[in-house]
Amino acid sequence: MLSYCTVVALLPLVLGRSVSLNLETRAKYHSTCLAIQHVISHASQVFHPGNVPYVNDTSHWVPSSTQASACSVEPGTVEDVSKILKIIGRTSTPFAVKSGGHATNQGFSSTPGVHIALSRLNTVAYHQDSNTATIGAGLTWDRVYAELEPYGVTVPGGRISGVGVGGFTLGGGYSWITNRRGLGIDNVVEYELVLPSGEITTVTASSNPELSFALRGGSNNFGIVTKFIFKTYRMGLGGVMTFAKSHIPLVLEAITDFAANNTNPDANIVGTYIHAPGSAPELSILTFYNGPTLPLAIFDKFLSIPRASEDLRTRPFTDLISAVSAPYLNPTHLRGAQHTVSLTGYTVDILSQILNQTDFYAESGSFANGSLISVAIEPFLASGVSSFSANDTAYPHNRYISPLALFWGWPDERTDSTAMQDMERAAAAITATAEGEGQQLTDLALYNNYALADTPLERLYTVNLPRLRSLKKKYDPRNIMNLAGGFRF
Ligand SMILES: Cc1cc2nc3c(=O)[nH]c(=O)nc-3n(C[C@H](O)[C@H](O)[C@H](O)COP(=O)(O)OP(=O)(O)OC[C@H]3O[C@@H](n4cnc5c(N)ncnc54)[C@H](O)[C@@H]3O)c2cc1C
Ligand SMILES: *[C@@H]1O[C@H](CO)[C@@H](O)[C@H](O)[C@H]1NC(C)=O
Ligand SMILES: *[C@@H]1O[C@H](CO)[C@@H](O)[C@H](O)[C@H]1NC(C)=O
Ligand SMILES: *[C@@H]1O[C@H](CO)[C@@H](O)[C@H](O)[C@H]1NC(C)=O
Ligand SMILES: *[C@@H]1O[C@H](CO)[C@@H](O)[C@H](O)[C@H]1NC(C)=O
Ligand SMILES: *[C@@H]1O[C@H](CO)[C@@H](O)[C@H](O)[C@H]1NC(C)=O
Repeated sequence: MLSYCTVVALLPLVLGRSVSLNLETRAKYHSTCLAIQHVISHASQVFHPGNVPYVNDTSHWVPSSTQASACSVEPGTVEDVSKILKIIGRTSTPFAVKSGGHATNQGFSSTPGVHIALSRLNTVAYHQDSNTATIGAGLTWDRVYAELEPYGVTVPGGRISGVGVGGFTLGGGYSWITNRRGLGIDNVVEYELVLPSGEITTVTASSNPELSFALRGGSNNFGIVTKFIFKTYRMGLGGVMTFAKSHIPLVLEAITDFAANNTNPDANIVGTYIHAPGSAPELSILTFYNGPTLPLAIFDKFLSIPRASEDLRTRPFTDLISAVSAPYLNPTHLRGAQHTVSLTGYTVDILSQILNQTDFYAESGSFANGSLISVAIEPFLASGVSSFSANDTAYPHNRYISPLALFWGWPDERTDSTAMQDMERAAAAITATAEGEGQQLTDLALYNNYALADTPLERLYTVNLPRLRSLKKKYDPRNIMNLAGGFRF
């Protein structure tokens, strides 16, 4: 006991976060850890602070999402996930479920209690006869793509390295092939789910339409998903172009033109604008084409502008993912947050306001050298909504939504609250500009996977919220999932 307490007492120093649990609470969480250790099979393992795997298990893309947990557990089988959840429910112990750890809201996949890291749920199996793949919920998309590449197929997964299968697929899932195939949630044909009660079940649209709806955007409200079966598709190619500051006005025109005039669902771009205080801002266009060769004519307008750098080419999908991911790897371990605005279209004025907000806060007093403000502009095809195969989804996306991903990173914990307030101000200013041009945004869902933790649930789930609330009551009557963080119905 003494040595355990010593280790716990040292944790705040190791993780840079204050832990204010009293001894009784610590002892309670610790005994839950021991109870779990006692029942799980050899496929699974519990780690305590000080064990090497504990650090990777509890860590996140931004360190501000990490909390010191009593222990981490890596379940290797669905049966062990069930046993763990039963013990957690019986003892009412706070817990977390982590897949790729890209949540930027603190507590969404971190806890002072039992941290469940899904990394051992890592199988990828391609089923050629049905054009589907079984994908473990603890994988990151890079590994999924690498395993599917030899078969020449891919799935609608994350666009950037490191994003987890679990959180992405339960929240929504905007992919490189979303224009043609819809979101991740539109392409899952089966879920293996451990219900909050610990019961193991299989969910398909026909076997359980209620849970099938709820899991398509309802994140971690309905239990722990251990694997997904996805539809698979041929993979594509693309690359990145970056532009010097002097050419930004031309690039904004080209983005507006692409957003308004592109009709080819195989083509997709993401505009990223990154402004680190004290350095020149950078505008890049990430391009993707879902086909065997790159028809450059689609990107003509961009290619008529001088590029600071460019590497558009026919390439393996995994290579494309690493090329576009470079700015998003957070090598300096900035703290950070994400937020979002849902738009229905782009004009040069709206894009200028997006850049203006980025510049304004990057140059404002609260941001220091070593910080970073970035925004991803995602002009999905306006007609793409008709190709979304399933519209009975918890995340309401049957109306056209172009989500904006604001990411702000900073080194100092003292910046946390002002940065998040400023992000909300920036989002409000962008929204006001778009509404001033006539966009109807008040009923348009905000994307839960990008939204700050205090975003009202009505803004995330709109008309679906009452139904989700009643399903949550039905499938989690004892509110076990409320022991974990996240948006709660
Ligand atoms: C650099 C970066 C790039 C991104 N790119 C994209 C993109 O291209 N498209 C897009 O749509 N989004 C993107 N996102 C947003 C991303 O989808 C969300 O951050 C998502 O929640 C991350 O999932 P994760 O598994 O990595 O995170 P985690 O932090 O592990 O999990 C996120 C949430 O999901 C829950 N969860 C995870 N797995 C399970 C499970 N198996 N069962 C139950 N609950 C679970 C967790 O408890 C947590 O609440 C990006 C984010 C970042 C930071
Ligand atoms: C570390 O965690 C990540 C998920 O956050 C996982 O993909 C990876 O396999 C883990 N690495 C090790 C060595 O366990
Ligand atoms: C769309 O294309 C038409 C025809 O080329 C052009 O006149 C128009 O300006 C384009 N729209 C935008 C927003 O650029
Ligand atoms: C930030 O760093 C850059 C380059 O190192 C320097 O030119 C600039 O003055 C710094 N800005 C502030 C506000 O310290
Ligand atoms: C840029 O943003 C700031 C802060 O919101 C605002 O005061 C200013 O008017 C904006 N500038 C333009 C040109 O919109
Ligand atoms: C789903 O799509 C069908 C066909 O487009 C439409 O009739 C139906 O109203 C949609 N359902 C919802 C909930 O949007």
